[in-house]
Amino acid sequence: MNNLLARKPVADIVASAEIPGRRVPRVLGPVSIAAMGVGAIIGAGIFVLTGTVAALNAGPAIVLSFVLAAIACAFVGLCYAELSAFLPVTGSTYTYTYATLGELAAWVIGWDLILEYAIGGAAVAVGWSGYFNSLLGMLGVALPPQWVAATGQAVVLADGTKATAIANLPAAAIVGLITVLLIGGTKESARLNNIMVAIKLTVVVSFIGLGAFYVNTANWRPFIPTNTGDFGSFGFSGILRGASIVFFAYIGFDAVSNCAQEAKRPQRDMPIGILGSLGLSTVLYILVAGVLTGLVPYAELNVPDPVAKGVRVMGHEWFSLFIELGALIGLTTVILVLLYGQSRIFATMAGDGLLPPVVGRLHPTLRTPWISQIMIGIVVAGVAAVVPLDVLDEMVGVGTLFAFILVCAAVIYLRTIEPYQHRPFRVPHVPWVPLLGILSCLGLMSGMTPETWLRLVVWLVVGLVVYFGYSRFHSRLRAKR
Ligand code: ALA
Repeated sequence: MNNLLARKPVADIVASAEIPGRRVPRVLGPVSIAAMGVGAIIGAGIFVLTGTVAALNAGPAIVLSFVLAAIACAFVGLCYAELSAFLPVTGSTYTYTYATLGELAAWVIGWDLILEYAIGGAAVAVGWSGYFNSLLGMLGVALPPQWVAATGQAVVLADGTKATAIANLPAAAIVGLITVLLIGGTKESARLNNIMVAIKLTVVVSFIGLGAFYVNTANWRPFIPTNTGDFGSFGFSGILRGASIVFFAYIGFDAVSNCAQEAKRPQRDMPIGILGSLGLSTVLYILVAGVLTGLVPYAELNVPDPVAKGVRVMGHEWFSLFIELGALIGLTTVILVLLYGQSRIFATMAGDGLLPPVVGRLHPTLRTPWISQIMIGIVVAGVAAVVPLDVLDEMVGVGTLFAFILVCAAVIYLRTIEPYQHRPFRVPHVPWVPLLGILSCLGLMSGMTPETWLRLVVWLVVGLVVYFGYSRFHSRLRAKR
């Protein structure tokens, strides 16, 4: 039992980053780090889910759903900022848990993070495929519908007949492309990411700026449509259900913590990157949601490309093309940062002996964990090709909220057991702010369906089988004791 609760000392965690052969170059400055954050955050959530939530759950009050989800993320973001400046190594929540709740809990969370990063990457790749298909459609090119949807889904062919989809090929292809890019080098990937993030921001800001002139304020009434009698279908419960769905839109600010080991000055840059990217995205989301529901009556927004639909109302064809292209680029950056984060978490777990050493091996010249990046690429591409978006989205949400709760708990715990360690950034009013973080994550989780909870439990049980079958026999920490 004691072994399962073995904690990795904070000093060891920090020192392990400097072991020759495991040291990665410190190449990232604050702008690249904040851009990684914005790169991971703004994606399928705003470009795809906003429409569905406005149409089915919250109406124009989706703005309040975004505010609620942002409040939860702000509490958690403060906790991430403290921990990533305090423990500036890769591994994110996994590392923080190893230092606090011990090895078994760290394993569980490392396993859980696969839902956020790998499955999150797959979910966004499916969103990417939807925009890619609609962009090709605007250019007069039609892909065979059986090859752009999840396996087994019903699709309608060009001649009007119905067919069953074979696989989502564009989704798998974009994952493959990004994998190649990530193997090529962190600095190169970050540079391309910065350019793509700039394009994405331009698209979002110009949508807000131009769209504001075309808003019809009658579309904002009623602001909170009356509940239909079902929980989550409009009214206040709709705002809550909406918040637990649009929470997906904020996922990614925590991915910034994976850059800590590659940051030039993590103590300063981690809090700037995490809180800056979260704050900027929150403001943009609220404005986009407000403008979109002002442009199009909310009931008409349940389409795969709602933002593009908003643009069509303005009547500028060229601008629709621009938005579709920007969304596509925006979604690409999200996949890039998520796949990057996943490989760094695996590498950290392999360094601790909980995964086979090959997973952590760096390429001799490129200095990237190329073997794990390839394995991740194959699995994520496979999942993106065969599983539908709604199943993926909910899994990502519940897995991430679970990780967030542990991060808030880790702040409280570390403050208690290591009170005198220097902390470059401190969460104010501990334990209250982390406790509010935990409560608000639980609140968002309460809006999720029972099937989602069941899937989470099954996933964690599979993880425990792997731990007791492999990891506990290979743990470095145990070998030392
Ligand atoms: N926040 C990311 C998105 O919305 C995962 O695509």
